[in-house]
Amino acid sequence: MSKKGRVFSGARPTGRQHLGNYLGAIRNYVTMQSQYDCVYCVVDLHALTTMETTRDLKQNTFEMAPDWLAAGIDPKESIVFVQSHVPQVTELYTILSMVSSLGKLTDLPTFKDKVRLQPNNVNLGLVGYPVLMTADIVLYKANFVPVGIDQAPHIEYARETVRSFNYRYNSTALIEPEMVVTTVPKVLGTDGQRKMGKSENNHIELALTPEETQKVVMTMVTDPQRLRRADPGNPDVCNVFSMHKTFSSPEEVEMINTECRRAGIGCVDCKKIYAKNLNANLAPFRERRAAFESNPGAIWDILHDGARRAREIAEATMVEVRAAVGLPE
Ligand code: TRP
Repeated sequence: MSKKGRVFSGARPTGRQHLGNYLGAIRNYVTMQSQYDCVYCVVDLHALTTMETTRDLKQNTFEMAPDWLAAGIDPKESIVFVQSHVPQVTELYTILSMVSSLGKLTDLPTFKDKVRLQPNNVNLGLVGYPVLMTADIVLYKANFVPVGIDQAPHIEYARETVRSFNYRYNSTALIEPEMVVTTVPKVLGTDGQRKMGKSENNHIELALTPEETQKVVMTMVTDPQRLRRADPGNPDVCNVFSMHKTFSSPEEVEMINTECRRAGIGCVDCKKIYAKNLNANLAPFRERRAAFESNPGAIWDILHDGARRAREIAEATMVEVRAAVGLPE
């Protein structure tokens, strides 16, 4: 293994991925493959902590895969799997629970947010969420965890838990992971107000057809001060302009920057250019995705093969963990 260490990251099973998922996580997962040994997981067990019904769980878990694979996550290079396919993670979760401070867990801002969001479903799993996340990471002895800044308290928690475990059992079995903050332009939704998200229904799905994509792009909110075509606009506050920076050529970005400010180009034309460039960027992705979609059996095979490889690493770690704890052989 000539790579620089192991990477682990997990994502909740939210089904078909959108532009925010792509720019915020998937793109980075893809580039890390060349330098690290990567393990990417769809965390279906974590999803249970906030779910009212599991009706769509299987479908939403499965549908992450064609998007990840079409975006360039290579199942020969990396391990792609579903969390619940590796039961060792729940065993490690239980063991780590005993070195987890309840006070620290209930103090976490992420926990408090969840309590506010679902006051009638403050289940034990919600409190233990960061413990399960720690188990995810350390089970694979991951050195690096690429996540958004919102996950910082969880990674810090994981580091502390590893130290507690290794100290309590005088062990070196678990590795303290480092967070790699994914620096991405904040991807706002089509409303131009909130972060792009499926539950906000302001997202642009990667799997849409070019026509559907253009339609959604045309609904995007631009500079709210620019009411008429003749009004000069302010690209600095326009979400469409910030998306141009990601998907359009530097020349086009410069042109729009200048022309918008002097009402030389209107929002409709500006969005048309954006839709065209976005579609051009996504064309190879869509082609690969269509190939995967026509063969769901192959996707399950990839996920099951990933789980098999993941279980091998996981079981080796658990042998060390059980011995460190002093559980009977
Ligand atoms: N908590 C993460 C999120 O909501 C998902 C996650 C679960 C995760 N386990 C992980 C991320 C392990 C990184 C590593 O986005």
